[in-house]
Amino acid sequence: MAVTIALFQVPSSSFQTRRLNFKPAIIRTCRSSVTSCCDSSNGREPEKGVKGVEKLLEEKRRAELSARIASGEFTIERSGFISSLRSGLSNLGAPTGILEFLSKWTDTLGDYPKIPEAKGAISAIRSEAFFIPLYELYLTYGGIFRLTFGPKSFLIVSDPSIAKHILRDNSKAYSKGILAEILEFVMGKGLIPADGEIWRVRRRAIVPALHQKYVAAMISLFGRATDRLCEKLDAAASDGEDVEMESLFSRLTLDIIGKAVFNYDFDSLTNDTGIVEAVYTVLREAEDRSVQPIPFWEIPIWKDISPKQKKVNAALKLINEILDDLIVICKRMVEEEELQFHEEYMNEQDPSILHFLLASGDDVSSKQLRDDLMTMLIAGHETSAAVLTWTFYLLSQEPSVMSKLQNEVDSVLGDRFPTIEDMKKLKYTTRVINESLRLYPQPPVLIRRSLDDDMLGKYPIKRGEDIFISIWNLHRSPKHWEDADKFNPERWPLDGPNPTETNQSFR
Ligand code: HEM
Repeated sequence: MAVTIALFQVPSSSFQTRRLNFKPAIIRTCRSSVTSCCDSSNGREPEKGVKGVEKLLEEKRRAELSARIASGEFTIERSGFISSLRSGLSNLGAPTGILEFLSKWTDTLGDYPKIPEAKGAISAIRSEAFFIPLYELYLTYGGIFRLTFGPKSFLIVSDPSIAKHILRDNSKAYSKGILAEILEFVMGKGLIPADGEIWRVRRRAIVPALHQKYVAAMISLFGRATDRLCEKLDAAASDGEDVEMESLFSRLTLDIIGKAVFNYDFDSLTNDTGIVEAVYTVLREAEDRSVQPIPFWEIPIWKDISPKQKKVNAALKLINEILDDLIVICKRMVEEEELQFHEEYMNEQDPSILHFLLASGDDVSSKQLRDDLMTMLIAGHETSAAVLTWTFYLLSQEPSVMSKLQNEVDSVLGDRFPTIEDMKKLKYTTRVINESLRLYPQPPVLIRRSLDDDMLGKYPIKRGEDIFISIWNLHRSPKHWEDADKFNPERWPLDGPNPTETNQSFR
């Protein structure tokens, strides 16, 4: 099945952020720290003017859409006498108090209240990233509503207690649904699309690989890889060259994830090899499939003749061949080493997750192992790149936050690479990333499907409901956050706990 929702322009794969139009002005790196500073005086005033007009038009368009949504233009009214009475009274201008009383009374007449419902054929919102109009709809329809597109409907959840019920308290009653269908071609039954027993078994196999010694080795890898990026930025700065940070962050995280997961050096910051192109081909395909109303790629002849599908298949073949080679090399290393497998097992030359899995007895020939490696490659790379890009975008807008962060990084690290011990000391830096993830959550929406009938809040739902949990709405709701749209790392005091779902009113 394909995603039948053109409205949901799920960007950069369904678990990904939308592509940025942000192009920071020339970046001057500050070598003593891993941060960069933005110079906004790079002859960019005319561009700023154009952006200002675009922003005004965007705000106007959004205000018009909000007004249309609030007017009830997209509301699907309930049928029946009470509903007709309510809408008749509303047309006659009856006071809101009476209308609300009638609604509540209607709710108590049936066994259960009905989920508010909106029509999805909203041409006005087709042109933007899907979670933006979902926010406008949330303000009118509340923490749970149904969005209907012809015969198909989706439940949009923006209520923390309902999200908690689906994701934690009753998680066994939900599968990954559409997400698994879109990602099957690349991730198979890897940990992200996997459900039920496969998920439980693979999670138990993979999580032990992420022990403290591994994390310490990875932090040292982050330092070395980031230093290579800084060298590139320094060179660009001294030549007065513009750089596209989104692309560079994406290459940085690809290089890191290759080493961290299967000890492969993509070296994408330096080279544009076939394998790097293959990874991007697959990533873009996942993104495209998430917005196609018809699953062309499932049509047998189309699969074989479409140049695009041929390219995707060739890219997948190349990545899989490289994975196979890496598995063989790694297996040989495991067989030759004398190290006994134990809880904090790690090979110093190859600390990768693949090495841990093979040493722990994972089946080398299994498709499951390849699916999990591919999942981590795709899942780890673009998410991390998006967080870095948005964080630096936000920092470029708030010089005071930027200089506070630089002071902390300089005082904790000075001129050396970070270690695991430094992480706890970089409190302000952590708050900055927390706040960036609040404003630009990765992914902005989580996808699930109900496997059984269930109750969501006061509403009963049936088996087979496709559900979108809008993290974007949860993170920007004026109900839960003061000045919700403001980038303000100070909202979490440095002497308080590191914000998590358990201490941030995730009820
Ligand atoms: C800042 C970077 C990252 C963010 C914001 C992020 C975010 C998330 C989120 C929200 C989920 C839950 C998705 C869902 O339940 O539908 C998830 C799952 C997952 N992520 Fe990440 N991720 C990041 C980095 C990574 C990296 C570096 C890797 C791989 C090395 C990775 C691998 C995974 C895997 C395997 C899962 C599935 C876990 C499970 O279901 O047990 N992620 N990630």
